[in-house]
Amino acid sequence: MYYKLNTVSEIARVFKTFIGYLKRPDLYPELGRKIIKNTLNRNGAFKGKEKTNLWASQIAVNQEIAVKKLFNLEFQPFSERYPQEFGRALDIQNACPIKMGGAGALELLYSACEFTQAQTVIETGVAYGWSSFATLTSLQKRNGTLYSSDMPYLGQNGDQYVGCVVPDYLRGNWKLFRHADRESLPKILKESREIDVVHYDSDKSYEGMMWAYKTLYPKLRKGGVFISDDINDNSAFQDFCEQEKIVPTVVEFERKFVGIFVKE
Ligand SMILES: C[S@@+](CC[C@H](N)C(=O)[O-])C[C@H]1O[C@@H](n2cnc3c(N)ncnc32)[C@H](O)[C@@H]1O
Repeated sequence: MYYKLNTVSEIARVFKTFIGYLKRPDLYPELGRKIIKNTLNRNGAFKGKEKTNLWASQIAVNQEIAVKKLFNLEFQPFSERYPQEFGRALDIQNACPIKMGGAGALELLYSACEFTQAQTVIETGVAYGWSSFATLTSLQKRNGTLYSSDMPYLGQNGDQYVGCVVPDYLRGNWKLFRHADRESLPKILKESREIDVVHYDSDKSYEGMMWAYKTLYPKLRKGGVFISDDINDNSAFQDFCEQEKIVPTVVEFERKFVGIFVKE
């Protein structure tokens, strides 16, 4: 997150976030990384952005085509597949007093879990919990486990709302780690089995993405699915795929790009 301190309310938010960090010694490592990122390495987040946007826009397909091509499954919007559950979740989001990050491509995620018959999924970035909700809906059929990593919303006192749209009947299959990825992921990887699906949707800096890709990819099983949101923010996903000789599919979703591949 890169701050431009333009308004009084923004200054107040940054101050509140800073105080929030000071009250949580377990988050000091992330505070240190954020300070370095926002002072010494301000351009790091957008490294290679132009190159990747050009590349992604030339090869992008929509969710429907991606679901058919990668999984040979028929596309159906998650909201139509589970209308009542989706409606209840939407009501909870609308009643939520704090504003969090928006939902990812739910159909892609749900289909990836169905395709792999997933037992173990790791996701980074929860916010309201839309991606957790879609993933758990598939995982619960096989009594599988979703491991999620999410930073608390320190600037908004919003800790208790993270994952609020996830219904109670799915929570028994869910382990939520409430630290920064760099602390959460090593803990998650210690206790999880072979991973069937990875969904990356948290820290969108180049270094943060590259670190998480390199940490998670070796633990993904062959035939498992790797999904990363917002690959248009910088070239981390494209560079990672080139380094690993992976030919990914790029999906256009809400004017952004999602990267996805099945591990060979
Ligand atoms: C776009 S939202 C996630 C949306 C969610 N995946 C969905 O589809 O509904 C991004 C989330 O990542 C979290 N986040 C950002 N940086 C993080 C980090 N370094 N470690 C863990 N979580 C982080 C934010 O707190 C936020 O909740």
